[in-house]
Amino acid sequence: MNAPIKISPSILSANFSKLGEEVIALEKAGADYIHIDVMDGHFVPNLTIGPEVIKKLRPLTKKIFDVHLMIAPVDNFIRDFAQAGADIITFHPEATPDVSNTIKLIKNEGKKVGISLKPKSKIELIEKYITQVDLILVMSVEPGFGGQKFMPEVLEKTKIIKELITKKNLKTEIEIDGGINFENCSLAKKAGANVLVSGSTIFKENQGNLEKNIGILRTN
Ligand code: DX5
Ligand code: ZN
Repeated sequence: MNAPIKISPSILSANFSKLGEEVIALEKAGADYIHIDVMDGHFVPNLTIGPEVIKKLRPLTKKIFDVHLMIAPVDNFIRDFAQAGADIITFHPEATPDVSNTIKLIKNEGKKVGISLKPKSKIELIEKYITQVDLILVMSVEPGFGGQKFMPEVLEKTKIIKELITKKNLKTEIEIDGGINFENCSLAKKAGANVLVSGSTIFKENQGNLEKNIGILRTN
């Protein structure tokens, strides 16, 4: 049996002047997780938000904060994001000199661990850590910006990851992130992803009808 599909809206496409209201609206609209993209202008060519913003959002919802760290080096910030209220902390293996140690730091904070592959990053980079993480995030655009075009070539990698997880009888979640829309979401699910991140589609389609857009992504 395949795991039920979860939707993790990326607040990168929200209106930052009313972020709290946007997060509450996402919860009401049926989001499973809240995807929070953290960028440092170094690991990726864009800047977004830090732990202080997450801390202020935390009391507004009980939803799982799915924090995607696109920062390097990552280790020094793990405690800050954990204490700010992240539930899942996802990092890129290129952003740390010692992947095992970064996993350990996140676990020591009592948080779930995610590890992410950029479109061109190979599975070999994370394969030996698969049994130690809770989630694998497959990037389907180059990290840095919302609103980019989905790269279908990552579907093959998603399938292979799904096979590895099934073979090892693991419960690891597979999340896909970048350019997900009403058409390609079914391909992502078929490839084995059970968590779909979406920013532009959820906030912009159907005049920003969050509930409708989350529903379509879930069922299409
Ligand atoms: C890109 C981010 C994504 C992105 C998703 O670096 O990790 O989460 O914001 O936004 P859309 O759905 O617009 O591609
Ligand atoms: Zn993301």
